[in-house]
Amino acid sequence: MNLNKQTVAVILAAASIPFVYAEKVHVSTPTSSLLLEANEGAPLCILHYGAPLTASDIESPQLAGSAAQQAYPAYGSLRPEYEHAISCVQSDGNMTLYLNVVGTPAKVTEADGAEVTTITMRDPQYPVEVIVNYRTWPGENVMETWTETVNLGKKPITLTRYDSGYLPIRRGDVWLTNFYGSWSNETRVNQEELKPGVKVIHNHDGVRNSHTAHSEVLFSLDGPLDERSGRVIGAALEYTGNYELRVTTHTDEYAYHGFYAGIDPEHSPYTLGAGETFVTPPLALVYSDNGAGDVSRSFHRWGRNHRLAHGNDLRPILLNSWEGVYMDINEPAMAGMMKDIASMGGELFVMDDGWFGEGDYARVNDSRGLGDWTVDTNKLPHGIQGLVDEAKKNNIKFGIWIEPEMINTQSRLFDEHPEYVLQARNRQQEKGRGGTQMVLDMANPKVQDIVFTVVDTLLTKYPEIAYIKWDANVPVMQHGSQYLPADRQSHLYVDFHKGFAKVMDRIREKYPDVLIQACASGGGRVNWGYLPWFDEFWTSDDTDAQQRVYMQWGTSYFFPAVAMASHISVVPNHGTRRVTPLKLRADVAMTGRLGLELQPKDMNDDEKAFCRQAVENYKAVRPVVQQGDLYRLYSPYDGKGISSLMYVAPDKSEAVFYWFKLDGDMMTRFPRVRMDGLDPDRMYTVTELNRIDNTPLRFEGQTFSGKYLMDNGLELPDRYNVDWDKQTDLTSRVLRLQAK
Ligand code: DGJ
Repeated sequence: MNLNKQTVAVILAAASIPFVYAEKVHVSTPTSSLLLEANEGAPLCILHYGAPLTASDIESPQLAGSAAQQAYPAYGSLRPEYEHAISCVQSDGNMTLYLNVVGTPAKVTEADGAEVTTITMRDPQYPVEVIVNYRTWPGENVMETWTETVNLGKKPITLTRYDSGYLPIRRGDVWLTNFYGSWSNETRVNQEELKPGVKVIHNHDGVRNSHTAHSEVLFSLDGPLDERSGRVIGAALEYTGNYELRVTTHTDEYAYHGFYAGIDPEHSPYTLGAGETFVTPPLALVYSDNGAGDVSRSFHRWGRNHRLAHGNDLRPILLNSWEGVYMDINEPAMAGMMKDIASMGGELFVMDDGWFGEGDYARVNDSRGLGDWTVDTNKLPHGIQGLVDEAKKNNIKFGIWIEPEMINTQSRLFDEHPEYVLQARNRQQEKGRGGTQMVLDMANPKVQDIVFTVVDTLLTKYPEIAYIKWDANVPVMQHGSQYLPADRQSHLYVDFHKGFAKVMDRIREKYPDVLIQACASGGGRVNWGYLPWFDEFWTSDDTDAQQRVYMQWGTSYFFPAVAMASHISVVPNHGTRRVTPLKLRADVAMTGRLGLELQPKDMNDDEKAFCRQAVENYKAVRPVVQQGDLYRLYSPYDGKGISSLMYVAPDKSEAVFYWFKLDGDMMTRFPRVRMDGLDPDRMYTVTELNRIDNTPLRFEGQTFSGKYLMDNGLELPDRYNVDWDKQTDLTSRVLRLQAK
């Protein structure tokens, strides 16, 4: 019997097991089991989340002494001293909420190839219903949970907390891994042992939600996180807006850490009128017995198959104009860049910021033009059509940058509709980038139409546009919607993102094929909440190869290479001013979705030839990088001066191995890296890609068993065999492995 499809109640009833166990609900994936107790008239409880349970194991958790934990603790039904996942103010001012299961057994439905298990709870005295959902997909290790809260009464109620989910984690030697950073230093990895107190990870930007923190975390249950072994829970809140994750380690008699994840309720009490429903974003969970690597691969696979736009398709190799010309957009420069990227084997050219606005509002700098999405004919006399035609001539595709949720106060749109910006009543406007940038009020349906129309107009007029870079460069500058009424101002953050979702749904319905990049001041929108509409994200405005190794390592825990835009740029790097070898820059960029971010006109012939070769090499391994399984081999955070990772084709017929030497000191002994993920019984032939050495490596063209490579690895020279003046401090290697 398939335990996924049935409540265990049925099995247990047939086996005449006493009623106390009768309403167990088992939700499972290939690597995990969630066992719930859903007794009518009592709160829904979690009995087990972890390794898969067999039918005979189902009654074990309680017999083994595990305490039942409320699955969605409501404030008021537990003593106030305890943490909770939901709280609400009833229409009569009562601050408590009781939630008891109604209508067992749990409902199981199928939709879009997934299975959703639904348990309904109601307050016995007040007209509030909460539906708890769990979604699984055949063969995928990810399980999602989210809730729907319904006001069944006639009078409004106000939600003051509305987490997507809660997970009790048995205390022991539990460590938390989370991601932190800032603009140009996104997705750094932090790891710490959980100690008494509460760890809060949150984002209050309003617009961009992954610069300073990420809504993804890992719990390693048996000590520090290991790539290949140990029990690990990976959790990702899939949301586009503000969030709060709390990890509690209370010092009372409670034996569990509490993990709560949801939209940030701060400054956001949400009122539900009669019959209205509040739906929380999904919290995706993976449990594995086999370390962090397995959790990452599970997220990547599920994401490509079910979440990311066009997740199973290969991405084009592109040149983006930003670091090449910044806002100095003009026809000859665009035409030259298109010709150059085409000659290097690239497949797409993206014109970045600076092409729009007219007259006084022409986008010559970042203080003007946002909102006026008409082409600046001074810069581009033949308009977008001219560029599209030029791209066609070069046999490449064309893409364009927009920032449609934003406005400069120096724009025609602002002159005509100052009521469309977010600003608090009776306060001076707060402005961001360029001294004039503000956020449009996405809660306002008229603004939603305007934002949709920006894309709709471009794609209708120029159906050849194949790619959109969608940017967002300031946070909500001030809490205030000119659209929402006074008693709904606290809905702003939530309604902004509801509005955003409506716009994106409309865009995707009409334009399912266009590629869209989520960019927000670099890596400000790296979250699974965005990716159903977006094909990829701009990982960071920092394109320095050395720093990217650390950032991309962090990004790889939850996000697949196919979505991680990674570009070769010039030196000194425009951000760090560091000079790194072109080979390192290309090799690092080739671990993600490869692109270029420079003015090719300024490259010398050798550099162009090297990039042409790198593009060709990337094309050869692109299916493995973009659709293969990631194995992180050596962390840059381990402080040993190297970093290494590899991608392996799902059928293990091919792999790409990367090795980066990040420490230029003399006479340093770097560890030898063992490979992973190969078929131990197959023989793999090794070919170096992007080689610059005068002579091949000793193992070039040689064949090794997968077992040998995984047990021993290969001895990698950390210097190049090149002329003295071409030696560099940092070095890197890319090896292609092909099974015979
Ligand atoms: C921020 C982005 O991250 C950059 O890549 C670039 O598009 C600029 N905005 C343009 O203003």
